[in-house]
Amino acid sequence: MPWRESKDLYLVLVSEIMLQQTRVETVIPYYRAFLARFPDAATLGNAPETDVLTAWAGLGYYSRARNLRLAAAQISARQPREYAEIRSLPGVGPYTAAALASISLNEPYAAVDGNVLRVVSRIANDPGEISSTAVKKRFDELAGQLLDPARPGDFNQAMMELGATICVPASPACGTCPVSEHCQARMAGTQRELPVKQGKPPARKLQQDLLFCEVDASIYLVRRSAAEKRMAGFWELPPRPVSTQDARESALPAATFTHQIVNDRFEVRVWTRYPRKRPAHLRDGAWIARHQLTGLPISTITKKALAILAAPETRVLSGRRTLSK
Ligand code: ADE
Repeated sequence: MPWRESKDLYLVLVSEIMLQQTRVETVIPYYRAFLARFPDAATLGNAPETDVLTAWAGLGYYSRARNLRLAAAQISARQPREYAEIRSLPGVGPYTAAALASISLNEPYAAVDGNVLRVVSRIANDPGEISSTAVKKRFDELAGQLLDPARPGDFNQAMMELGATICVPASPACGTCPVSEHCQARMAGTQRELPVKQGKPPARKLQQDLLFCEVDASIYLVRRSAAEKRMAGFWELPPRPVSTQDARESALPAATFTHQIVNDRFEVRVWTRYPRKRPAHLRDGAWIARHQLTGLPISTITKKALAILAAPETRVLSGRRTLSK
């Protein structure tokens, strides 16, 4: 993992923010590209927000990118020296602050993410239900007791990795686990049942009909307002205007796919139009030339739509799969 090569606070901050809701394999290429573009805290802190969102596009949870830029500006003005200063950075909660303080400053804070929580629940064979605050607190304390104060950063990252690779949810590889002899759940045979958690509610299904309108290699896109909770400032295909259907529109959607954001499952249909002139009713957005698309923050749904329209053999896509067939 490239972020293990340095303890520099900025470099570790970028990795930990990316890793907050995104898997290691997905993060690695983004991490390298992001640092090639924003190699230090001052560069990121001074960059326009749009550039940062463009580099982040595809990782999701875009408030992370906005906060990261603000945190970088603060770090470049004044380097934090202890946990409390790290914790006060925008977008840095107790878990991320513990990871940063332990890795960059060698401070003895246990960083308990979902993976670590699973490891701890099994080591202690604790059947507590993990959405309970009291249970979380108990697991935090236990992780703190296990922590090696001489090498807190290595310890935390070893716990994260153990949870990600060996002490996995459904079929933990106890036979190759380096701490299996300390594991109470293993002794009791309860490892597969832990941690105990309430079921997630089923995803909410949302139908989206989008319009793809292209004239002279320019595509009509609209920009999400800055006040939008999700993906503010991103460009996307507009909704298909129901009242203005015309004969030149495709009779069937030209692309159909699903995209999940947190607990919302979008069932997306894209309708195409290729008129000779720009239709007068499309005027609140902008006509973006194809060659300008790469420099803009574009929503992932729209990126998927454009990719499918460009490669129609991938038309029906689902879930979080990538565009390879
Ligand atoms: N998840 C969050 N932080 C991580 C790290 N430093 N290493 C591996 N996985 C992580």
